[in-house]
Amino acid sequence: MQALMSCLVLLTSLAVSASSGYRLALTHVDSKIGLTKTELMRRAAHRSRLRALSGYDANSPRLHSVQVEYLMELAIGTPPVPFVALADTGSDLTWTQCQPCKLCFPQDTPVYDPSASSTFSPVPCSSATCLPVLRSRNCSTPSSLCRYGYSYSDGAYSAGILGTETLTLGSSVPGQAVSVSDVAFGCGTDNGGDSLNSTGTVGLGRGTLSLLAQLGVGKFSYCLTDFFNSTLDSPFLLGTLAELAPGPGAVQSTPLLQSPLNPSRYVVSLQGITLGDVRLPIPNKTFDLHANSTGGMVVDSGTTFSILPESGFRVVVDHVAQVLGQPPVNASSLDSPCFPAPAGERQLPFMPDLVLHFAGGADMRLHRDNYMSYNQEDSSFCLNIVGTTSTWSMLGNFQQQNIQMLFDMTVGQLSFLPTDCSKL
Ligand SMILES: *[C@@H]1O[C@H](CO)[C@@H](O)[C@H](O)[C@H]1NC(C)=O
Ligand SMILES: *[C@@H]1O[C@H](CO)[C@@H](O)[C@H](O)[C@H]1NC(C)=O
Ligand SMILES: *[C@@H]1O[C@H](CO)[C@@H](O)[C@H](O)[C@H]1NC(C)=O
Ligand SMILES: *[C@@H]1O[C@H](CO)[C@@H](O)[C@H](O)[C@H]1NC(C)=O
Ligand SMILES: *[C@@H]1O[C@H](CO)[C@@H](O)[C@H](O)[C@H]1NC(C)=O
Ligand SMILES: *[C@@H]1O[C@H](CO)[C@@H](O)[C@H](O)[C@H]1NC(C)=O
Repeated sequence: MQALMSCLVLLTSLAVSASSGYRLALTHVDSKIGLTKTELMRRAAHRSRLRALSGYDANSPRLHSVQVEYLMELAIGTPPVPFVALADTGSDLTWTQCQPCKLCFPQDTPVYDPSASSTFSPVPCSSATCLPVLRSRNCSTPSSLCRYGYSYSDGAYSAGILGTETLTLGSSVPGQAVSVSDVAFGCGTDNGGDSLNSTGTVGLGRGTLSLLAQLGVGKFSYCLTDFFNSTLDSPFLLGTLAELAPGPGAVQSTPLLQSPLNPSRYVVSLQGITLGDVRLPIPNKTFDLHANSTGGMVVDSGTTFSILPESGFRVVVDHVAQVLGQPPVNASSLDSPCFPAPAGERQLPFMPDLVLHFAGGADMRLHRDNYMSYNQEDSSFCLNIVGTTSTWSMLGNFQQQNIQMLFDMTVGQLSFLPTDCSKL
């Protein structure tokens, strides 16, 4: 592990810009296609259901969660070829579709061709860089190419060869474009799966292949703007620029935990939930991360609705039902529960804050619009949280709207602060 890390740092040390700070922007994946609020909710619910059902398995470190929500614009090669990638905090490999395509998603811009770039180099399969993604366990000769295969937990995958290239970051933010050379990336000639519809992914996990490790940055922050307002970009800051802008409240911090079998993930300890002034009767250890890597709450900007283990989920649903004075339409389901709205009612009723209590006394206060929405299509109020029969939980991006999130690995902490992200 250590050897691999130092190799990657060496690989990229020349490339890191003087400031080692980058300002990028995220756009919502559905923003370009002009969907209605109901359609956005349906797509989000569908993706969360896929994720909850996917049996994200703590014991399968080669399966990666996939960020299907927020997109980043980048460019690759010399001359630079633009591509749009999913920004994924749940996985490490950065890849883009590559010529000659065996199987590629439709792409609006030309597919990157390594033979047309003066800065592409293939990575040999004997290289330590290849190790985390090597497709077959053996290398036929030390000089053969590094053939990688990368699978995501919801069935999507990318396969091809590993290379190094010049990446241009921040190409969509005026004055912020920075070129970084010799970034190890996947040149994906075989890309599939129906949940992923992307021309690439930027891996922002905690592993050695992650773009963060390659850039040598130990922290990043983002602030996701209103889920339903597709016109607003969300700021994404890396390295020295990553910090929390002053906001109306106090900064809350909780330790980032290391999951032994999933070292790439950002895991925190959720200790309880309060609705209004009621501490919900969920056993204290329901969300704990165990030594065998089961449990724990993964902070995943790639999952829309938060996912809770069934026992905790039921308690939350029961208490929301009590506030609304009625049971959900389908009380047996683990899907996002919906409650019929009174005739003529088109707005969410008053709902108290839902507070997530994290280790270290960090409270994340979710206002009504961070956990409920009005569904126009069937005139119902829906709780934007889903249940799972597994033991793990996820903090989804719907719950992270308008909260600055700072992942600081240098101090091993996640810090957050409620903020109007459109003002940053
Ligand atoms: C792995 O090595 C074995 C024996 O050296 C060889 O027969 C096989 O083709 C190799 N597999 C791959 C996928 O290269
Ligand atoms: C994937 O993207 C293409 C091009 O933008 C679009 O035509 C297609 O409908 C999308 N497929 C899905 C499943 O979203
Ligand atoms: C989206 O945000 C912009 C800027 O804050 C605002 O002017 C606009 O009204 C918002 N649109 C919606 C649909 O909320
Ligand atoms: C659960 O946690 C709360 C808050 O930290 C504490 O007051 C309570 O004693 C704990 N209950 C048990 C059974 O450990
Ligand atoms: C993991 O550890 C927890 C707590 O000790 C235990 O309840 C669970 O059964 C274990 N799961 C596996 C798959 O070993
Ligand atoms: C209720 O939920 C169960 C379990 O998810 C599902 O099998 C059933 O089809 C749902 N019923 C309705 C009416 O949606």
